[in-house]
Amino acid sequence: MKATKLVQILVLLPYVFILSNVNAQQQTFEPAAIWKDNNGIHINAHGGGVLYQKGTYYWFGEHKVEGSKGNTAQVGVHCYTSKDLYHWKDAGIALSVSDDPESDIVRGCIIERPKVIYNKRTRKYVMWFHLELKDKGYWAARAGLATADRPTGPYTFIKSLRPNAGKMPFYPSGIPVAEHINVEKPANNTDSIFCRDWKGGQMCRDMTLYVDDDGKAYHIFSSEENMTLHIAELDKSYTSHTGKFSRVYPGFQTEAPAIFKRNGKYYMIGSACTGWAPNAARLFVASSIYGPWKYEGNPCQGEGAGLTYGGQSTFILPVAGKKNAFIFMADKWQPKNAIDGRYIWLPITFKAEKPELSWADSWTLNSFGS
Ligand code: GAL
Repeated sequence: MKATKLVQILVLLPYVFILSNVNAQQQTFEPAAIWKDNNGIHINAHGGGVLYQKGTYYWFGEHKVEGSKGNTAQVGVHCYTSKDLYHWKDAGIALSVSDDPESDIVRGCIIERPKVIYNKRTRKYVMWFHLELKDKGYWAARAGLATADRPTGPYTFIKSLRPNAGKMPFYPSGIPVAEHINVEKPANNTDSIFCRDWKGGQMCRDMTLYVDDDGKAYHIFSSEENMTLHIAELDKSYTSHTGKFSRVYPGFQTEAPAIFKRNGKYYMIGSACTGWAPNAARLFVASSIYGPWKYEGNPCQGEGAGLTYGGQSTFILPVAGKKNAFIFMADKWQPKNAIDGRYIWLPITFKAEKPELSWADSWTLNSFGS
């Protein structure tokens, strides 16, 4: 080899090393760090959820703008796509806010925690979200529905509603009859809120969607002034509630539900009710989706566990192609500058069948094994 060639190689070598290293760095999850999309822009999909279909992951979340104005919907629901969960491509705004002042989703309303599921029967992509009407604070507490023919949208807003008007809860066996609600004579404050909303429909705030192995879908949301969670069945088209729903720990005030199933058991991780401020996560386990759910304490371990490492649950993502591999997705909210909110994704580990979470500055899908 000529001496000049050797010099060229030696000069280029550090760059080759740096480039391969840059690439290696992108193949990791770094909770709470800035996570850039294909355009180098911080991913803007808060309170999100992920749909997996035919080799592609679709991440939907609240598009936030700068400042505290970003706590209201100024743009809509943003969608990103990925093949490997590390690299995300901006797929644009899936659901846009409206400029029609008569629309429920007029710019300035609040759209939170959008989730999308695919309905095989209708071949529609079905998005439900928590909707608050413009300038009404958090009092409307409605469920919003939008559908699309393609996963990335555009989604068409269909309706907003308070679920299950005039319906009574379903009580899975194990809930004593003495604890069933009596509309004539509510036994406590929580039951009184339920009865107050019985005719008009139940409140719907923090929420998620879950499609079970049999294709049935469930809408799981904080209800009754966030005093409890409702697990509500959706109809075959996923666009209406059937009227069958159960309540999880009335009076316990659980928010931010995220759910998954492993070896036939249902697991739910949620949070306590402290607004944008973090609190301790809560784990619930059940052998039927309607419950009874058993509270199993805080799944987080180690430093930061008492405040969920600064985050609040939003979704639990099953990793495609890996058995029993689940990613806990949480938001680290920045309400003063909403667009700066960060994502905390952590692998769920199991100790004696019990899900656990531990902080990691950086981790990869290899931590799940093959
Ligand atoms: C949180 C909730 C968020 C948002 C916030 C508003 O408890 O999880 O989605 O609604 O309150 O303060």
